[in-house]
Amino acid sequence: MNLVVVSNRVARGKANEPMTGGLAAALLPVVEKSGAIWVGSSGRVRDGIQKEPFAEIEALGAGALAMLDLPAAHYGGYYEGFANSALWPALHSRTDLIRASSEDFLSYREVNAFMARALLRFRKPDTLFWIQDYHFLTLGADLRDLGVRQPLGFFLHTPWPVRSIIAGVPHHRELIEAMLAYDLIGFQTSDDYDNFLSYLTADLGLKVDDGVVVSPHGRTRVAVFPIGIDAEKFARQAARAVSHPDVSRLRRSLNGEKLAIGVDRLDYSKGLLNRVSAFDRMWTLHPELARAVSLLQIATLSRGAIEAYGHLQSELAKLVSDVNGRHGEVDWTPIRYLNKGFGQTVLAGLYRTAQVGVVTPLHDGMNLVAKEYVAAQNPDDPGVLVLSKFAGAANELDSALLVNPHDIDGMARAIATALSMPLIERRMRWEAMMKKLRSGSIQRWFADFVEALQESQADKASAPEPSQIAGSPTPWPPRAISRSARLH
Ligand code: F6P
Repeated sequence: MNLVVVSNRVARGKANEPMTGGLAAALLPVVEKSGAIWVGSSGRVRDGIQKEPFAEIEALGAGALAMLDLPAAHYGGYYEGFANSALWPALHSRTDLIRASSEDFLSYREVNAFMARALLRFRKPDTLFWIQDYHFLTLGADLRDLGVRQPLGFFLHTPWPVRSIIAGVPHHRELIEAMLAYDLIGFQTSDDYDNFLSYLTADLGLKVDDGVVVSPHGRTRVAVFPIGIDAEKFARQAARAVSHPDVSRLRRSLNGEKLAIGVDRLDYSKGLLNRVSAFDRMWTLHPELARAVSLLQIATLSRGAIEAYGHLQSELAKLVSDVNGRHGEVDWTPIRYLNKGFGQTVLAGLYRTAQVGVVTPLHDGMNLVAKEYVAAQNPDDPGVLVLSKFAGAANELDSALLVNPHDIDGMARAIATALSMPLIERRMRWEAMMKKLRSGSIQRWFADFVEALQESQADKASAPEPSQIAGSPTPWPPRAISRSARLH
């Protein structure tokens, strides 16, 4: 088997380099081992490469990493534009933040088509293509247009919202019809799966039978594959990392005080303002907790060119400084707020140092920080995870203290409860969560998806053509309309 994995962001194999976001960090160890070719953006743009994609290729474990320069004329419209100002807010149910122009949509389609052309050089007869995330919803259809007949899988790392919200994305129908060129579509949770299927049935008039939908593109299987982590490896890394200089310095600075930790990209989906407000409320309601616990909030800057992210950055900085101003003392800072990234090793040590992990997104596909926080704990004296019930991870980590991130008082109470939880209860909750993490590992996720993708091809070979199926929906022209015509 030849596997080609595609994602916008790729990771280089260094545990000590800061990594933005869960996808790249999670994929790195499994892709390295599998011998796959991982294709993604180099982070650079270039003019004049529309027809001839340029890739820098380096070894990655048993496989290779191919980093593509993306076309300069379309990068902004694709990344800051359609992907992160139309799709991202909609996928996280923030329709109020959707900003999309026809030009951005055109750029999104152009970059997807460009990536499709670039992938041709990695195609062999037995290649499986596995495409990651919302940046490449239409890449499968573009590959089919180029004559690619190999299995095409797609996994979405974000949530998939209810029909009325995804309908807020301009060209939603075209995008979702194009997604059906994939043989296998994977989601993080059963809610995402249900929402997607309800769009297919109610809006596209398609029939779904046991997760299989037949469209003019052929058969597509839709299924749930919750992404995991390598919990054992992360636990070992955390145990070693306590002697890392950054981690030792943090411990010394605490002077017996407890620590709560939050680690997020600075993104409106992460619920950072509500989290800081919950700490504010907690210190107001429980003045005895002043000096007894502080919050270390790492918020890595992200997508800074987008207005909503700039606003959030200033609002959050103002709120943190306001809370520190009101609750702080000459020798005590309630919130240590950092905008820089850390490598995985240091993070593992920081998680292990903190008695409480606060992962309270308003909405999140999975949230691997929640899983990493649990895996990093000392089994003899584990910390407590305070987790949003709107993170995909809450389905598995139901022994965490689950909170509603919109309920500031409820979160303040949960953090105070976490801080005073007896050891026996902390251990019981932690063991239950570790058991889930061990069985739902990243290796399992990877193997399950690849196996299902291989099977989807076998299903296809034995299935009738869509046109032979009685009552099959009126075909739409999968790619008959020209890209620019679709913009109107
Ligand atoms: O699924 C969302 C995701 O791809 C995550 O893996 C990661 O947290 C984030 O988006 C990365 O975003 P960006 O590449 O824009 O920094």
